[in-house]
Amino acid sequence: MKAVRIHQYGGPEVLQLEEAPKPNFSENEVLVKVKAAGVNPVDFKIREGYLAGMLNHTLPLTLGWDVAGIIEAIGSKVKDWKIGDEIYSRPDITKNGAYAEYIAISANEIARKPKSLSFTEAAGVPLVALTAWQAIIEGAGLKAGQKVLIHAGSGGVGSFAIQFAKHIGATVLATSSTTNLALLKSLGADIAIDYTKDHFEELADKVDVVFDTIGGDVQKRSWQCLKPGGTLVSIASTPDAELAKKFQANGKFVFVQPDGQRLAEFSSLFDQGKLRVLIDTVFDLSEVQKAHELSQTGRARGKIILEVD
Ligand SMILES: NC(=O)c1ccc[n+]([C@@H]2O[C@H](COP(=O)([O-])OP(=O)(O)OC[C@H]3O[C@@H](n4cnc5c(N)ncnc54)[C@H](OP(=O)(O)O)[C@@H]3O)[C@@H](O)[C@H]2O)c1
Repeated sequence: MKAVRIHQYGGPEVLQLEEAPKPNFSENEVLVKVKAAGVNPVDFKIREGYLAGMLNHTLPLTLGWDVAGIIEAIGSKVKDWKIGDEIYSRPDITKNGAYAEYIAISANEIARKPKSLSFTEAAGVPLVALTAWQAIIEGAGLKAGQKVLIHAGSGGVGSFAIQFAKHIGATVLATSSTTNLALLKSLGADIAIDYTKDHFEELADKVDVVFDTIGGDVQKRSWQCLKPGGTLVSIASTPDAELAKKFQANGKFVFVQPDGQRLAEFSSLFDQGKLRVLIDTVFDLSEVQKAHELSQTGRARGKIILEVD
C-alpha cells in the first residue's frame, strides 16, 4: 500500500511517500481503508524525535493519529461492526498511524462517523475533540455556571474546547490574535481576548478553570487568573507544583487517550447541529511536507487534512 513514513527523525524532508506493507490486524482490531487523515502538531513533534523518549516508536513509522475511513476487514472477536461501516478514530499513538491507505485500529477506539460530515471533515475531529473534552470536562471538572479561560481558541483543540464549555453551560473567555477574534465569538466565546494587544491576565479574573494549550510564559501568567481552588489544566507542559501551591490552585497535565464511546457521543452532537469542525487547508497525501510546514507555523485556524483516497 501507499504510506507516508519516516525512516529517521528530522525536518519535513524525512516524510517519504512510499510502498509499505498493508498492516496485519489482530482479533480485536478492524482494518480501515483510510479516506482522510488529520494532521496535528504531535505529528511534527514525533517526526522531529521530540517525543522519542516517551513513545518508544520503532522506525520506519507511519505518522498520523486522526482518521476517517471505511471498515475493510474485521478481527474474529470484534462485535457490532461490519465491513463497509464508515468510522472515525483517534487510534493508539504508539502504533503506526493513518498517513496511509490502510490502518489497523482496535475496535474500542472507533466510532461511527457523523453522518453530517464528509470523511475529510470527520478526520479533523477525533484527536482535538477528545483532547478538549478530556482536559476541561474530565480533567478539570468544568461545570455549568463556571468560568473558563481557553488559550488559542482558534486552534484545533481550542475551537472544540469553546464549543464543549458552552454546551455544558459555562462562561467562556478565549484568546487569539486580532484576525481570529470574530471566529472565537462565532464558536460561542462570551469574551474574545486579543493576546497581541491586551494582557489576558488583566481581563480574565477569578476563573474556575484555565485551559493552557501553549505552555511557557502563557502558563506562568495564567495562575493569577484563577480563583483559589481553581484548576489550570495543560496539554502543553506539566504545571509547576510550587506555583499551584502559591496560588492555592490545582495543576494537571493531560495527554489525550483514544475513546470510541466518547467519539460516538460527539457524532450525535454533530448530527444535531450542536458542534462544528473548522477546516484550515486540505492537502493530497503527496503534499504532506507542505501540510507539516503549515502545522509548524502555529497559525492554522482549525484543522489541516490529508486526503488519502
Ligand atoms: N497533551 C495532549 O494530549 C495534546 C493533544 C493535542 C494537542 N496538544 C498540543 O496542544 C497545542 C495546541 O494544539 P492544536 O492542535 O490546537 O494546535 P493548532 O491548531 O496548530 O493551534 C494553532 C492556533 O494557535 C493559536 N495561537 C498560537 N499562539 C497563541 C498564543 N500565544 N495565544 C493564543 N493563541 C495562540 C493560533 O491563533 P492566532 O494565529 O490567532 O495566534 C492558531 O489558531 C500543540 O502544542 C499540541 O501539540 C497536546
